[in-house]
Amino acid sequence: MTIEIIPTGAAAGAEIRGVDLSQDLDDATFAAIEDAYNQRGVIFFRDQTITPPQQVEFSRRFGEIEYNIFSERWSVTGSPEIVVVSNITENGAPIGIKRAGENWHSDMCYTARPPRGTMLHAIEIPDLFGLPLGDTEFASAAAAWDALPDTLRSRIENRHATFDFTGRKRAFPPKQSEIDRNPPVCHPIVRTHPFTGRKCLYVMRDDCTAIEGMEQAEADLLIAALADHIVKPQFIYRHQWRVGDVLMWDNCTVQHRAVQDYDMPQRRLMHRTTMGGSVPV
Ligand code: SIN
Repeated sequence: MTIEIIPTGAAAGAEIRGVDLSQDLDDATFAAIEDAYNQRGVIFFRDQTITPPQQVEFSRRFGEIEYNIFSERWSVTGSPEIVVVSNITENGAPIGIKRAGENWHSDMCYTARPPRGTMLHAIEIPDLFGLPLGDTEFASAAAAWDALPDTLRSRIENRHATFDFTGRKRAFPPKQSEIDRNPPVCHPIVRTHPFTGRKCLYVMRDDCTAIEGMEQAEADLLIAALADHIVKPQFIYRHQWRVGDVLMWDNCTVQHRAVQDYDMPQRRLMHRTTMGGSVPV
């Protein structure tokens, strides 16, 4: 295999060619993939044919599998590590989590040790007249930090925010037991990437509910201003899916949202795995 890494031209993202994820990857190939992932925040491989166990095995090379609230409700039969993300209903019941991640966010930021990253394998992609729908957008929180004026950088560096599981409106409201298992946590609003050392803004509307040592009214304004800044067009890569794509993002470098511009009979089916991370610093 000759691996090729092709940056998207946007602030994040690279396509990786010359890799067949159904085969064992040697250490040098994996190291090149991992480096592209760390540097670009989003990487994707087209035309992959992988089984659920192969997706789990590849995910595990980046970190232990992380289970979230959806794993308990919608996982792939025989592969509990994989969550089904889908709008498809079979026999009157949804086969997966519908409308997952339609607001800008970084996965499981409400936990003490948020995941390193998340991987999606595209099984079915909706379209209209052959035009793909259901894209996913990624915003580089690293490029957003780089673009801040020095005065604002020094004002927010070393600040911490409260991240509250109940702050965000979810497609499926969590159960009380899930709320009890996820009490509010505190994280820096400027994170240092654990592998590249790059600084990344870590602020989301709704998930961040307060900033330590700041009046609530000022904190609300600052959270909104930073959340809006991160998702400016110059920091965005928009991924247009094809069946067979395997794409993974880094939850420190980028935030993401799923574009909900389709509905049945347009079917979307993704297999998602989540890789464990480290405590944000
Ligand atoms: C997610 O936020 O995990 C879902 C993203 C997508 O389905 O495009």
